[in-house]
Amino acid sequence: MQADHFASIITSPLWRTDLYVGGAWVALERRFPVDNPATGTVIAQVASGGTAEAQAAIAAAQAALPAWAARPAKERAAILRRWHDMVVANADELALILTLEQGKPLAEAKGEILYGAAFFDWFADEARRIYGDVIPTYAADRRLIALRQPIGVCAAITPWNFPMAMIPRKAAPALAAGCTMVLKPASATPLSALALAALAEQAGVPAGVFNVVPGSAREVGDVLATDPRVKKLTFTGSTEVGRALMARASGTIKKLSLELGGNAPVLVFDDADLDAAVAGTIATKFRNMGQTCVCANRIYVEDGIHDRFVAALGVAVAAMKQGDGQEPGVVQGPLIDMAAVAKCEAHIADALAGGARVVTGGGRHALGGRFFQPTVLADCTQEMAIAREETFGPVAPIFRFKGEADAIRLANDTEYGLAAYLFTTDHARIWRVGEALEFGIVGVNTGATSYEGAPFGGWKESGVGREGGRDGITEFLETKYMCIAGISPLGS
Ligand code: SIN
Repeated sequence: MQADHFASIITSPLWRTDLYVGGAWVALERRFPVDNPATGTVIAQVASGGTAEAQAAIAAAQAALPAWAARPAKERAAILRRWHDMVVANADELALILTLEQGKPLAEAKGEILYGAAFFDWFADEARRIYGDVIPTYAADRRLIALRQPIGVCAAITPWNFPMAMIPRKAAPALAAGCTMVLKPASATPLSALALAALAEQAGVPAGVFNVVPGSAREVGDVLATDPRVKKLTFTGSTEVGRALMARASGTIKKLSLELGGNAPVLVFDDADLDAAVAGTIATKFRNMGQTCVCANRIYVEDGIHDRFVAALGVAVAAMKQGDGQEPGVVQGPLIDMAAVAKCEAHIADALAGGARVVTGGGRHALGGRFFQPTVLADCTQEMAIAREETFGPVAPIFRFKGEADAIRLANDTEYGLAAYLFTTDHARIWRVGEALEFGIVGVNTGATSYEGAPFGGWKESGVGREGGRDGITEFLETKYMCIAGISPLGS
């Protein structure tokens, strides 16, 4: 079945392996392999852009900017809506491409495609709602206004864990605002980005407005972070890389949006609904095999519910079906690479050495390769590496706590501040704890919070800026204050 799927997808018009620059597909001799994490088989050789290609893409985006910015918002909105419709119409093919290059199960991949498409829909509407301000004047002959204008050419660098959804989350508000974009997708997963470019072309996105340059992170990333023609850089990835990009972008004072690492706590209080807490913890911990910035990384459980929670989570996790994401019923696929496997192993070894115990899982899966067993560990402590670092894998460490103050202290004991979750049926506690958590996103009695209309982003070293919702488009706008003098009074 999988071989048939592959044979059919590589003849699809969405299967693209060349750069997309200035509305043209650009083949290069220099190429890099993309493999299927479930099998390790190379599925494509993709054109590998470097410094020259990144500069050419910026030039194309610069050339396309005046006409795109000048188009009425309604026209930009109509094009984004067409792009949305084409993504939805092609969701099955896009999901297959995503699963083949990234490994997540097909149903989850399709969920990501539709989640991503929703940003086109949301920001098509927002394009028509970029309002300015009329400011009460300080002088009788003056009128004061603030305009919001597109910031200019934008660069986006997107990650392998959500190869599709992170692109519209950046490109849709940028294009809605009247900006143009150069995108560098992660080298592990460029095929979803190129498929999206093929649909942009079909949807009528003008040449140069959206450009895709897969290739060398060092070369392409550096040009995007330093070229003075790029006015805004938006990046999703690790805090380490975000810090380096921020430093490089400081030379030209670029506006930045950085969605970086997380170390999300889950707080399960004694009064929580046990089933909801277990289901919510699974939803946040095991989404995308634990390879999500908002994934639970530390699960703090209050004394009174602790043992029942550990037992129930262990049973539910042990029942998860693992395998190639193309197989029906699979909910856990492979990890992205062997470094991800090694990190899970290292965190488990460190936790066991510190006194933790394995409730279920605990190591590599019998399927071999990049498959790692969904794992639950109990008796974890704050000193362990698993409490301090993001595992980015399917390992759920459980810690015990006593009382609200302890829970808040433990949850906030990290330099990260992206997402946190709490499970309780006490409404006063929802407010007290929710307000005390130092995180940009708080899920209450749920492990799934993402929505195109809500602000997504982190506090502390988890990043700057917000994506999605009302805030998402302001990241791509500049404000211009106009002070108009010499307006003589009526009858003068
Ligand atoms: C991420 O982990 O970066 C994205 C997750 C989401 O949008 O829900």
